[in-house]
Amino acid sequence: MFASTIRTIADYPKPGIQFRDITTLLKDRVAFNAMVDALALHYANVRLDKVAAIESRGFIIGAALASKLELGFVPVRKRGKLPAETVMQPYKLEYGEDALEIHVDAVTEGEQLLLVDDLIATGGTAMAAMTLVRRLGGVVEHAAFVVDLPALGGLQQLQSAGVKPFVLCQFDGH
Ligand code: PRP
Ligand code: MG
Repeated sequence: MFASTIRTIADYPKPGIQFRDITTLLKDRVAFNAMVDALALHYANVRLDKVAAIESRGFIIGAALASKLELGFVPVRKRGKLPAETVMQPYKLEYGEDALEIHVDAVTEGEQLLLVDDLIATGGTAMAAMTLVRRLGGVVEHAAFVVDLPALGGLQQLQSAGVKPFVLCQFDGH
């Protein structure tokens, strides 16, 4: 159901990439609310303290889900955006390189955080975000994504790190 609401743009942002565009899901009130409800239902009985979501597309999903689950929200931002003291973790993207940051006071030792992003491809972004939360003493046992690209192996990386992933749909290819 969710896959049919996601648009695919060929050769964006560079040749050979099939860009999975969730804006077509987001603008559809039935699909958007069903997406948030499906994620919330999955975590209804899981002990969680906060949602940590990844800039920028992950914020859209993560903030809606945090509100639905009545949890706090922690932004994991791209380098240079957070004003207070941070920790930083560099990572490789499917196309490029960057670094993520989190405020050092965003997580308290032993808190359970649900990691959220719109999409997992290589897993580099999610692994960097997980590492940041763990560096601050937070516990990351669960991660949620709207889209998984299984050919790129991101879910296996998370599983190897002891994180249980949950995804709403998968697409073949890159
Ligand atoms: C995309 C996507 C994920 C990440 C997945 O974000 O939203 O965050 O790539 O890739 P990976 O699993 O290979 O690391 P992007 O950095 O393009 O930026 P945006 O969310 O700010 O649009
Ligand atoms: Mg992103």
